[in-house]
Amino acid sequence: MSKFKNDLILRAARGEKTERTPVWLMRQAGRILPEYRAVRASLSGFKELVETPERAAEVTIQPVDLLGVDAAIIFSDILVIPEAMGLSYEMVEKKGPVFPEKIRSEKDIDQLHIAQPDELTYVYQAIDLTVKDLDGRVPLIGFAGAPFTIFCYMVEGSGSKTFSKAREMLYARPELAHRLMQMITDSTIGYLKGQIEAGANLVQVFDSWAAILSKSIYREFSIPYLKQICDALDGMVPVTLFAKGANFSIDDLAALNCRTIGLDWNVPVDFAKANAGDKTLQGNLDPAVLYASGRDIAKHTEKMLAAFGNHPHIANLGHGVYPDMKPDAVRTFVNTVKEYRHE
Ligand code: CP3
Repeated sequence: MSKFKNDLILRAARGEKTERTPVWLMRQAGRILPEYRAVRASLSGFKELVETPERAAEVTIQPVDLLGVDAAIIFSDILVIPEAMGLSYEMVEKKGPVFPEKIRSEKDIDQLHIAQPDELTYVYQAIDLTVKDLDGRVPLIGFAGAPFTIFCYMVEGSGSKTFSKAREMLYARPELAHRLMQMITDSTIGYLKGQIEAGANLVQVFDSWAAILSKSIYREFSIPYLKQICDALDGMVPVTLFAKGANFSIDDLAALNCRTIGLDWNVPVDFAKANAGDKTLQGNLDPAVLYASGRDIAKHTEKMLAAFGNHPHIANLGHGVYPDMKPDAVRTFVNTVKEYRHE
């Protein structure tokens, strides 16, 4: 007997056949919901929300109640890891994250440390509260950034179109890059284990900037660290790897100890199926579809579901939902998936 009223996503992640396809959205907890914006406006800012377990748990559960998704994802950010390592960030309105200090030299790395469990207690407390409040309605997804993506932010100091400073380090100071990547990996493994101990039922690793590397450099600087993470968590909970834009590396990802591979909307579903072996696939509707009419959202969603056919699948967008999208459009997407049955 499952401890969940709805465990579709866990069964799909394990590759089992399910009566219908489970569905959730990346960034489902956030600015699309007026109820989120109200909580956020009552606090000093994004970081206070992330660091206040009761409020983080509250906004984590909002999309379960308001959108009807089949999983919750803990409200936090991938950047809590660099912060715990000693490099703090600011979330700047309309700009995104900014690190006042950047990592550019051996000396900068010497200032960092591997994140300790007590530096992330607020996340574990938020997970514990969320699990209690969810009361088995749906599973809870924990997450972290992939070492390469965290490395990008730590070296660059903010988002970037090219991440040329981060890529410079890969080629000009590879030993430095590997040293930093290993520290991030060790921090991330401890962090994800902490999330699982606190109650996360699945974990997803976001490699949001994977697309800026070539296949061979991705193999050298990202895959080995993703492998360490997957191996460390093997047998604990199902792991999802989402390497946005690294469709050239689906075969390399499929060789790892993960259960699910996330897909963006650029990858043809047939190509993904041909390269992913027996891994469950997650995705991959173009988020911009949610700007269309209800009828067209349903049509595009059904077309996507048909493309996955009977391959184990978790429906999602190909990246996070955009803040200006309408909750009703999200509901149309969610309900279309829930009503769809494969032949
Ligand atoms: O609902 C969920 O998916 C859970 C919460 C979540 C957030 N960030 C909250 C958030 C998750 C899973 C993340 C992951 C994250 N954070 C990623 C990986 C996923 C991806 O998008 O590729 C990345 C790259 C980040 C770093 C980050 N955080 C950026 C670049 C930004 C600014 C962009 C923006 O949308 O403003 C953030 C801020 C952020 N993280 C917000 C939320 C809800 C918006 C800030 C706010 O509410 O004030």
